[in-house]
Amino acid sequence: MKAIRINGLHKSFGPVKAVNGLDLEVPQGICLGLLGPNGAGKSTTMRLLTGQAVADSGEMEVLGYRLPEDGKQARARMGVVPQLDNLDIDVTVEQNLTIFARLYRVEDVPGAVDRALRLARLSDRRDYAVENLSGGMRRRLLLARGLVHEPELLLLDEPTVGLDPQIRTELWTLIDALRTSGTTILMSTHYIEEAERLADEVALMAGGRIIARASPAELIAEHAGQVTAEVYAPPQRLLEIRRSAEAAGLSVRPAGPAVAIVGIERAGSWDVPEGAIRRASSLEDVFVLLTGEEAE
Ligand SMILES: Nc1ncnc2c1ncn2[C@@H]1O[C@H](COP(=O)(O)OP(=O)(O)O)[C@@H](O)[C@H]1O
Ligand SMILES: [Mg+2]
Repeated sequence: MKAIRINGLHKSFGPVKAVNGLDLEVPQGICLGLLGPNGAGKSTTMRLLTGQAVADSGEMEVLGYRLPEDGKQARARMGVVPQLDNLDIDVTVEQNLTIFARLYRVEDVPGAVDRALRLARLSDRRDYAVENLSGGMRRRLLLARGLVHEPELLLLDEPTVGLDPQIRTELWTLIDALRTSGTTILMSTHYIEEAERLADEVALMAGGRIIARASPAELIAEHAGQVTAEVYAPPQRLLEIRRSAEAAGLSVRPAGPAVAIVGIERAGSWDVPEGAIRRASSLEDVFVLLTGEEAE
C-alpha cells in the first residue's frame, strides 16, 4: 500500500488552475519533498489531502482510504502542520496539545501531550501562553500538535518558511528524527536546501503538476550533469557566452549577476570561458532550469 496515491487531480480557483492534472504517489516510510516555487500548487495539494478543499476532479487515496468518502478515517491517522500558524493563542502550550489529543480521541491524553512536548523540545514551556512564544517555538508547537496522536503520515506545508536560519536548522533536526523513526512525511517547500537535506525523494512541482521526480542526486545527474561553470562578466559578454553555450547544446541559467552553464562535461568542443568558476552541479540548477524561476 502507498501512503498517498493521487491521480489526475484538478482544482481551479476561478481562472487559476492551482492543481492541474497532478499525479503523485508516496510510498510508506519515506520523506517526499514537494519542491516548487510560490504558486506551484503545493498548499492546495495539501489542503485537498486534508479535506480543507474539494477537488474538481481526480482520485485521491490516503493510507488506503479513498478521499473524500473515507476522509475521516484517513485524517485520524495523519498529522497536519499547515503553512499558516493557526494556533489557539489565548490558551497555553499544553492546552493547545490537550485539545488536539482529545479531538483525536487519544487514549492517554497527558501521556501523549508529554511525548509531543518532549519531541518538540517544549517541555519547559508547557505553561506559557502561545502569544508569549518566539516564532521558532510556535512553529515547533505547530509540529507537536500535528504529532500528538502519533500519526503514520505527516503533512508538512513549508515547515520553516519565514524562520531564521538557526531556527530552521533546529526544525530540520526534529523533522529528520521523525523521518528516521519511520513516519511517512510529505513536506512541501520552496527552499531547495530544505528538500536536499530532508527528502529521500523530491517531486518538483510547477504549474499544478509534477514535472520531475527522483532522489536529489538522481535529479542532479539527469538534469544538471556533474560540473557547472559560473561566469561573471559585463551583460553583453554574458549574453554572448549564453548564446554560444546554448548553440553547443548546453543548458544555461541565470545565477544572480552571473550565468551558470550547467553540465559542462557534456560540452564537446565548446570552450569554457576563461575565469569561469567550476563547481558541482546542484539541485538549485535543476530547480531553476526546470521551473524557470530563480531560487530563494
Ligand atoms: N483560496 C484560493 N482562492 C483563490 N486562489 C487561490 C486560493 N488558493 C490558492 N490560490 C491560487 O492557486 C495557486 C496555487 O497556490 P498554492 O497552492 O498556495 O501554491 P504554493 O503553496 O505552491 O505557493 C496560486 O496562483 C494561488 O494564488
Ligand atoms: Mg504554499
